[in-house]
Amino acid sequence: MEYLDLQYNEYTTEMYAQLEKGIFLTTKVDEKVNTMTIGWGGVNFIWSKNVFIAYVRYSRETYNMLEKAEEFTISVPLTNEMRKELSFCGVKSGRDFDKITECNLTLINGRKIGTPIIGECDLHYECKVIYKQAIEPGSILDSVKERFYKNNNYHVIYYGEIVDTYMLKGEK
Ligand SMILES: Cc1cc2nc3c(=O)[nH]c(=O)nc-3n(C[C@H](O)[C@H](O)[C@H](O)COP(=O)(O)O)c2cc1C
Repeated sequence: MEYLDLQYNEYTTEMYAQLEKGIFLTTKVDEKVNTMTIGWGGVNFIWSKNVFIAYVRYSRETYNMLEKAEEFTISVPLTNEMRKELSFCGVKSGRDFDKITECNLTLINGRKIGTPIIGECDLHYECKVIYKQAIEPGSILDSVKERFYKNNNYHVIYYGEIVDTYMLKGEK
């Protein structure tokens, strides 16, 4: 297994192309590790920091975990489609399933934070939450609210400072 160190904004074209299909956001609280598929978000630059912004609805177990963990990892499959795993982790909740075991995912320790990454993926970001903000229902265009928030299950936006970015190569 070999690490290829990257700048936070290398491989963003590939990352965004995969984001449309889903990438993994992983959290850890005590000994519990959970991962969920995300399709919205991306890298950004604010307060002179590189950040990964993720949108997590209140109903997700990931939301409960992020409130405690204050850090997360993002793992992006580039060479391996991982369609089955992304769809399982995109509908099943960590409240009901140990998705890591169910999907046979390999956890590899983070280098800079306590949350692991998903070893079957290629591109990884390790992030520390530096800001979060609940979507403000009064500020959304009615048509967007109607389409995405009929049930009031709003997103909380997490800004994770990217403290490490790398590609993982070779046998895990
Ligand atoms: C392709 C895809 C993209 C998704 N993107 C998001 C997202 O950006 N934010 C979100 O809250 N849920 C998203 N979901 C839904 C969650 O992955 C799903 O509700 C998951 O079961 C939550 O797991 P958890 O309860 O263990 O956190 C997505 C699902 C799929 C299939």
